[in-house]
Amino acid sequence: MRPVDIIYKKRNGEINTKEEIEFMINGYVNGQVPDYQISAWLMAIFFNGMTKEERYHLTMVMRDSGDTIDLSGIKGIKIDKHSTGGVGDKTTLAVGPLVASAGLKVSKLSGRGLGHTGGTIDKLESIPGFKTAISKDEFFKIANEVGMVVAGQTGNIAPADKKIYALRDVTATVDEISLISASIMSKKLAVQSDGIVLDVKTGSGAFMKNIPDAVELAKSMVEIAELNNRKIIALVTNMDQPLGDNIGNSLEVLEAIETLKGKGPKDFTDLCVELGANMLDLSGLYTYEEAKEILNKNIENGKALDIMKMWIKAQGGDERVVDNPEEILPISEKIVEFKAEKDGFVSHIDTEKVGIASMVLGAGRKRKEDEIDFSVGIKVLKKLGAKISKGDTIAKLYISEKSNVEEAIELLKEAYEISKNPPKEEKMKLIYEKIV
Ligand code: URA
Repeated sequence: MRPVDIIYKKRNGEINTKEEIEFMINGYVNGQVPDYQISAWLMAIFFNGMTKEERYHLTMVMRDSGDTIDLSGIKGIKIDKHSTGGVGDKTTLAVGPLVASAGLKVSKLSGRGLGHTGGTIDKLESIPGFKTAISKDEFFKIANEVGMVVAGQTGNIAPADKKIYALRDVTATVDEISLISASIMSKKLAVQSDGIVLDVKTGSGAFMKNIPDAVELAKSMVEIAELNNRKIIALVTNMDQPLGDNIGNSLEVLEAIETLKGKGPKDFTDLCVELGANMLDLSGLYTYEEAKEILNKNIENGKALDIMKMWIKAQGGDERVVDNPEEILPISEKIVEFKAEKDGFVSHIDTEKVGIASMVLGAGRKRKEDEIDFSVGIKVLKKLGAKISKGDTIAKLYISEKSNVEEAIELLKEAYEISKNPPKEEKMKLIYEKIV
């Protein structure tokens, strides 16, 4: 087999066989197929797509490029949750303790932030003392004792994805349905959970900018899971505006804590309950309706917050953060306000630009090796549909000496559209579709 023939076929809209896909992926991982040929093949996939069979083979070859994780050492039902990525998406921090308070086991491997989206591991590390590099034994012990544990993704889960994702990132081939499906599902299937709930984001802050593409992505991932006899539910949810109000590491931890105290923003709280209810439904422990009731109750009675405290303590974090988040978390005291220049309604938010604005303040990384500042970020005070007057504060920027404040303000100016009329209801809907 020659890589050029495989690329040629895909370029001409033909189907690659299982053997050809294996040859390309395994060859890339072991250094026999060079970057430039994989790049050309990825671009051909970007333009011509893949069939269901090709997608499935790609996913399985990528999964099998590394280790699989056996969770049978954790007693109980283990349901995984994954978001395709967005701005202000701190759901794992709140949903995990929430569903653990209803009896589920959440044992998650999470990643760091890159580009305009944040990562759970960075957010957790803004809690003083919190360790995300924990041993396998510690991981299992905490899951069994607390019901909730999160560790950084180890080097050997789907290493093919790691290498290919880095290449996609610099060759404009990230936002393609087959490639995203295989990337996410190779990692999800490598961890042997009892079920998966996917939060597939759509809108200006997501990879999938429109609802039909997001639905297709969700269906593609559901199909791959089902071919593996893995239970799965996918929700297609709104990323046309930041989720919740806070963006940036410490600020997002603060919001997750507030949410489990019953004082969180409505959109974020509702999404956490919705995802949690689907996780419990999938586990068979409760019906969806029962689950919703229990989860709302466990926010009210503080049970979910207690689990959060135990979890933070178990992973070495300062658990006082739960009672006094503003004292314990590093949150900058230097604030700059972004103000409205005219009257009207917030009719559109380019959410990706808001995410980039947070990144240039120092909350995210442009490149993998960049350092991040946990204390900076953005608090959004006006979201879609808000009526505003000239001079109103739209967002507060938490900054440091290193923040590029001018660039962040410029990005926010570009991101916010203020019009005479509010946006259509559809644009503000939280959940568009559920795929089972
Ligand atoms: N998240 C992933 O893990 N992979 C993608 O391709 C996109 C989002």
